[in-house]
Amino acid sequence: MIQEEKGYFVLSTDNSSYIFRVLGTGHLDNVYYGKRLDDLTGIERLSTSGNLFLATIPYYDEEHQNLFPEIIRSEYPTPLKGDARESALEIEGKRGIESLTLLYDSYRIFKGKDFSFPAFANADEKTETLEIKLKDELLPIEVLLRYTVYEEEDVILRSATIINSTDSAIKLRNAASLSLDLPYDDFNLLTYSGAWGRERQEERRKLLSGIVVNDSKLGVTSNEHSPLVFLERELTGEVYGFNLIYSGNHRETVEVSPFGKTRVITGINPWLFEWKMQSGESFNTPEAIMTYGEKIEDASLSFHHFTNKYIIRGEWQYRERPVLINSWEAVYFNLEEEKLLALAEKASELGFELFVLDDGWFGSRRNDRRGLGDWYVSPEVFPDGLGSFSEKIHSMGLMFGLWMEPEMVNPDSELYRKHPDWVIEIPGRKAALTRHQAVLDITREDVRDYLYSSLEAVISSANVDYIKWDMNRTITDLFSSNPSCHSNGELQHRYVLGLYELAGRFTERFPEILFEGCASGGNRYDLGMLSFMPQIWTSDNTDLYQRMTIEAGTLRGFPQSAMGAHVSASPGHQSLRTSLIENRFDVAAFGSLGYELDLTKLSELDQEAIRNEIAFYKKYRKIFQFGDFRPLSSSDPELVFWSVTDGKTTIVMEFIKRMLPNTGKCDRLIIPFLSSDKHYRITNRRIIIPKEFFGDLWPQWNKEENEVFECVVSGDILSKAGILLPPRFMGNGLQSSISPVSDNGTRMYIIEEAQD
Ligand code: DGJ
Repeated sequence: MIQEEKGYFVLSTDNSSYIFRVLGTGHLDNVYYGKRLDDLTGIERLSTSGNLFLATIPYYDEEHQNLFPEIIRSEYPTPLKGDARESALEIEGKRGIESLTLLYDSYRIFKGKDFSFPAFANADEKTETLEIKLKDELLPIEVLLRYTVYEEEDVILRSATIINSTDSAIKLRNAASLSLDLPYDDFNLLTYSGAWGRERQEERRKLLSGIVVNDSKLGVTSNEHSPLVFLERELTGEVYGFNLIYSGNHRETVEVSPFGKTRVITGINPWLFEWKMQSGESFNTPEAIMTYGEKIEDASLSFHHFTNKYIIRGEWQYRERPVLINSWEAVYFNLEEEKLLALAEKASELGFELFVLDDGWFGSRRNDRRGLGDWYVSPEVFPDGLGSFSEKIHSMGLMFGLWMEPEMVNPDSELYRKHPDWVIEIPGRKAALTRHQAVLDITREDVRDYLYSSLEAVISSANVDYIKWDMNRTITDLFSSNPSCHSNGELQHRYVLGLYELAGRFTERFPEILFEGCASGGNRYDLGMLSFMPQIWTSDNTDLYQRMTIEAGTLRGFPQSAMGAHVSASPGHQSLRTSLIENRFDVAAFGSLGYELDLTKLSELDQEAIRNEIAFYKKYRKIFQFGDFRPLSSSDPELVFWSVTDGKTTIVMEFIKRMLPNTGKCDRLIIPFLSSDKHYRITNRRIIIPKEFFGDLWPQWNKEENEVFECVVSGDILSKAGILLPPRFMGNGLQSSISPVSDNGTRMYIIEEAQD
């Protein structure tokens, strides 16, 4: 709901209120963002702007000696007008950087949305948008600020449009999507950083005076710093969450001012960015979302619900994602039709639903040095073509999926030899390479046309149900031969716009295909890609322990259905860690499940385990993919609990990081969100443990009797006191009452309402 009264704009979601007002001077001043307020009597007492005296700080003008831009809680701050904090907008005119004062002009409120950046959030009749027009007090430069309110999801979507109504060209140096000033300075900042193989590791730091920057300069959102950030108040635990619907360079600055306030700005990274705007032109920023929650789990759920409902679209929006087998870690580049068919045969036998043919099926691509860019099926690998191969896969009852990497080229390829100028490279310098590949200049229409037509022909020639869209390097060496790219400072943003245009063409042409984004694992894991592709490959690292922290970080902001999660071989190809396939499954089950290992080489027991895992996953798939995910707290730092629920059935995974003997404790499971007035039956997912796990102790193991767990407990106990789980093995023999679990061991519990 959006209301305007006496110069106050009040935006309400089910659980939050966002309020700002127009000061007498025309400045916008944020008044409140937090727990929903329904009675606004005395709201004037909430704002400090205009009431305080500050020494040696510039005031607005002689008539407004109490109005300090430094303490106004601006909605879109500009530089050089007395506010010494980071600004949202920087414009270069004829004389260089302009000092702008954006003042209120008008507003309109309407149902739904009437603006979309190419990657965008949907809106429906339940949503409303407030658009505020600001004008500079001197120059004919206007800014439109937009706020779309998603009541049920507790999310507000923001964006801005900059309009150049001057009679000459100006240069945009910075145009943020969102700026918010909060009147507190007791925050912890949560960020999701890392690198290949360790994406989105949660880091929590206390904010002190000054600026913290979280950004990407790599041309992609990057595995180094995700645009997802949260601010958590130390005093109350309340949380503000932010994310950007964009797939390129982004920047989030969080600044604690000397006057007790914290400013968050998010948008395209101004680093090396500039954008020429001719007279009469406008520039649209990407959209950004923000949420308020009483605790982090609430903020995460708001982002999950919002993403599932308004970011992900098309036929696969709420459709259960198939269990897939991917050829990559099974055979890498050693593609032989016979071997692939044997893999698919085994997959079909074990209950899989989708076979994905990864890298290596095209041109001369027999390793990563050659062939990228030559998008025709290799007759060496598939003498009868892909159509025939895909039909063979379908005849086994499996869907067929295909890998592609449209944005890249190997210098050793027919494409590069024909069009060396299609690469992003500075004339006279050799571009930096990664994995022997260069980046195609997809700001150019002719490049996009080639990629579309060649790949469209391949996809149409076969019966394709799924596509993995990979991208295995970052952008360097800024130069484009595209004449509409006015300067190197425009290139990275134009690249993202080109990417969206191309992705849009494919997804519109093939609406029934399930697309999965990928960039060396999770190097482009963002809401922009998700608005085209319903899921993204989270990380190349499938080691269960490391994967647990990667998934935990990812799930802070993105829903399980969007998170590609695979079980692969042991010892792991990224970690050399040995683990049970049942434990690897438990961690992967909290996303869109896949396997990528050579099924034909597995022991009978592991095959039986996979068969059971897939059957279990299918039974509860809807809950795993679309239920509410919450990590549960544990007083033991070696224990992690995750839960998913649809409100009726709850599934909990217990992850034991390190086995410690003789602690005298049993693990305590508390599920705070269960109803106190119900009773629940708790059972465990019984797993297969092979002989090798036990070594000499094997003769003591009675697999029929062990780990049978079933009890009925009141919701009152479960939600408040918790229950004790079976004691763990600690060196005293394998009696039937104990749980033989070791380092990186997992167990899964199913909690269902008990009929009394
Ligand atoms: C990187 C991806 O993350 C992998 O899953 C695999 O598809 C390889 N690329 C193939 O080259």
